[in-house]
Amino acid sequence: MIEIVDIRYCRLGTADLDGAVRFATELIGLELVDRGNGAAYVRGDDRDHNICYFEGDPADQTLGLEVRAFDDLAAAEAILQTAGVETRRGSDDEAEARRCMGFINFKDPTGNSVDLVVRPFHSGNRYFASRDAGICEFSHVGLKTTDAPRDEAFWSTLFNFRVNDWIGSAPLMSFDQVHHRIALFPTDHAGLQHINFQTESIDDIMRSYYFFRDRQIRIRFGPGRHATSNAMFLYYDGPDGMTYEYSSGVRMVDEEWRPRQFPFTAESFCVWGSRPDIDEFQTD
Ligand SMILES: [Fe+2]
Repeated sequence: MIEIVDIRYCRLGTADLDGAVRFATELIGLELVDRGNGAAYVRGDDRDHNICYFEGDPADQTLGLEVRAFDDLAAAEAILQTAGVETRRGSDDEAEARRCMGFINFKDPTGNSVDLVVRPFHSGNRYFASRDAGICEFSHVGLKTTDAPRDEAFWSTLFNFRVNDWIGSAPLMSFDQVHHRIALFPTDHAGLQHINFQTESIDDIMRSYYFFRDRQIRIRFGPGRHATSNAMFLYYDGPDGMTYEYSSGVRMVDEEWRPRQFPFTAESFCVWGSRPDIDEFQTD
C-alpha cells in the first residue's frame, strides 16, 4: 500500500504564461513565488507552491502527491510496477523544477499524470496574498475518469485513499481526515477537473462572488453548499479553461466514517438549489 501524506501541487501547461500569472495573482488571490525557465510558481498557503504554470500544452496537467521518504518512493515504484503500471523516475533537473528532493511519475488507468514526490519544499516565508481572497489552503482536486469504479479500485487498493461518499458512481476520496482530497468525475478523457482552495469563511466566498461578477469572470457553480462534504463553494473559470473552486467549512471524517451513496442529482451537488454549469456535474 502506498501511503500518501499530502496533496502538493498541480502542474499546468499554458499557452499564455503572463495571462495565467495575472489571473492567479490578481483574481484568484495567489502569491507569485518565483518565475523563470518558462514557468511560474504560485501558492495560497505556506508551502513552496501549489500550482506551477509552465509554457506548454494546456492539456498537459499533472497532480503532485507526497510520500514520506525516499524508501517509500522506492516501495511505491515497486508496488506500481508489480501492478503493471509504468513508472518513470524524475531527473535531478526535473526534481529541481518541481521543488522537491525526488519524484516518480505514473499515469492512473484513465491516463491522468501523477507525480509522487518526496520531501517537497516548504517555505520560510508566510503566504502573502496579492488579493485578499481569504485563501487558507490548497486542499483538493477533481480528476477526470473514464471508468469510475475501475479508478476507485486503483486508488483505494494501491494507495491509502478511502471513499468518503459517492455521487452516482463518482467517488470522493481522501487519505486523511479531510472529506475528499481527490474526487473522480466520469467523462471521456483524462485531466484535472477542478482545483480547490479553502477560504476562511463564507464571507470570503461571497466577496469573491461579487468581485468576479463585477469583472465578468464566468461563474460555473454556486454560491452553494455541497450535500457530501457540507462545504460552501464557488466554482469559476480560470486560465486555459480550468475550473477553480473556493470552498469553506469542509467536513472532517474519522476512522468510523461510513461512506454514503448520494444519487447523481443536482441536489447532491448543492443543497441550496444552485445549478452547475460544469460538464461533469450535469445531471440531466
Ligand atoms: Fe471541489
